[in-house]
Amino acid sequence: NQGGLSMNSQAQLTTIKTFAKSKLAADKTGHNFDHIQRVVKLANRLAKAQTKPVDLTVILAAAYLHDTIDDKLVASPKQAVNEVKELLTSLAFSSAQSDEIIHIITHMSYASNLNEKQVLSLEGQIVQDADWLDAIGAIGITRAIYYGGAHGEKIYDPEILPRTQLDKASYRNLADETIINHFYEKLFKLADMLNTPQARALAASRQQVMKDFVATFKAEWDAEA
Ligand code: ADP
Ligand code: NI
Repeated sequence: NQGGLSMNSQAQLTTIKTFAKSKLAADKTGHNFDHIQRVVKLANRLAKAQTKPVDLTVILAAAYLHDTIDDKLVASPKQAVNEVKELLTSLAFSSAQSDEIIHIITHMSYASNLNEKQVLSLEGQIVQDADWLDAIGAIGITRAIYYGGAHGEKIYDPEILPRTQLDKASYRNLADETIINHFYEKLFKLADMLNTPQARALAASRQQVMKDFVATFKAEWDAEA
């Protein structure tokens, strides 16, 4: 599915894939390498649908690397960024490509977009769309439950009202977070935040699956279904 890429690009991406896999191997909170593979696949699909030219190597490299610098997964994001820079240099990426990949992976997350919207290139917008598509729909529901379980969240508490206007600091520090509230605080909002029309089209049915799920969940909670 990397058809059209040069031998050099394919070799670079093979090494990047191995690097990302080793970095995420231990994760048990829903950022594992299966998530990365899905994001790469979605990013590839979105890239192929563009009419404007895009750098597919930058897109796929950023998709593979985007969670290797996450502050939830690594002790020092700064050190992790430096390690990625060294990797890209060792693979003979141009400094323009390397800078672009680093910019994408350090500015694309939901958390880093909470206080102010980050400006991303079309390549970055595609990787962000792919990552956010993988946070919604049936997969998104499963990941939220998996993450909530790993972090000891309650599944639901009708007393805790959803906080729909979170800033970056409070997003990371929700002592009374529940899995259902996470839908209001983030997951229901993502579809409208997507960049490309192709991602928005894919998001429509994913959004409906989540809406139906939460509505049915609440009806069952109240013994109404
Ligand atoms: P980002 O890196 O874009 O800021 P996160 O790392 O917070 O996003 O989210 C990664 C995954 O974990 C997503 O699938 C998200 O829905 C899920 N997740 C994050 N926070 C919570 C939470 N408090 N409860 C349940 N799921 C969560
Ligand atoms: Ni991700």
